[in-house]
Amino acid sequence: MKIIHLTDLHLVAPTRKLFALDPLEHFKAAIASINLNHFDAELVLISGDLVDQGETEAYIALKEALKSLKIPYALGMGNHDNRAHLQSVFPELPQDDNGFVQYAIKTSGGTFIMLDTAKEGSHAGELCTKRLAWLSHTLEKHSDQDIFIVLHHPTVETGIRFMDSIKLQDVEAFANIVKKHNNIRHLFFGHVHRPITGNWQGISFSLMPSLNHQVALNLEIDAKRLPGSHEPPAYGVVIIEEQSLVVHFNYFMQETRKYFMHGNSASAQSFAQLDHEIELQQRDDLQQTMKDY
Ligand SMILES: [Fe+2]
Repeated sequence: MKIIHLTDLHLVAPTRKLFALDPLEHFKAAIASINLNHFDAELVLISGDLVDQGETEAYIALKEALKSLKIPYALGMGNHDNRAHLQSVFPELPQDDNGFVQYAIKTSGGTFIMLDTAKEGSHAGELCTKRLAWLSHTLEKHSDQDIFIVLHHPTVETGIRFMDSIKLQDVEAFANIVKKHNNIRHLFFGHVHRPITGNWQGISFSLMPSLNHQVALNLEIDAKRLPGSHEPPAYGVVIIEEQSLVVHFNYFMQETRKYFMHGNSASAQSFAQLDHEIELQQRDDLQQTMKDY
């Protein structure tokens, strides 16, 4: 089974930019890339910070853009989201009995659990007793299936101190629930705006870059300042099999040369030579296609 993981769209009101970038343009480019190259994916996870300031008009732009996505999607809450505004624009979005944006989605490869870690008035993550009780109950209900949990705030410290200071605050309580279940296969995080993988409590996790602006890899700077960067956006292409889970980071907006590594491309000593090789390869490809035809 293939799924796609997007995070931290940070959409703003149309016509506005964020850190001199256009989040809506990036999101539309991601959708076009997914529709073209990954239309066989079963689900697109979007793990929070859907918009930058919780603005209703940004959620309306999100809904409008999602109309062109050819694959079912699951929206989650982040610290930049506004629950009431999100729910007013997406009234069909499932919620738990307490109004949190938490729900389970069945797929052919198992069940995905979307958690709502947003905390009113804070950028740090919260899983209050009500949300944890819902998680416990949901895990019990799906104990016979493979489980994948999607939460905006990571449980781990990444070494980027500002982001570490606003990670999930209730990690111990979350760990106590998770430890009771041996069918949790992977955690999907957002929030840090960087490509990161690792494991926590013996469970693998992956964290995608933002679709708009990134956090720079700076492990020295103190927690008072957050270093930004214009590294390119990426989304995750996740292949889930019975015995394995593979996460590809797809830098879909990065313009780069693409060539086959056989033939003379390795011996090119300049971009001009390499471009010439690429042209020859494309000509070969065309001739092969014509022959096959
Ligand atoms: Fe974010």
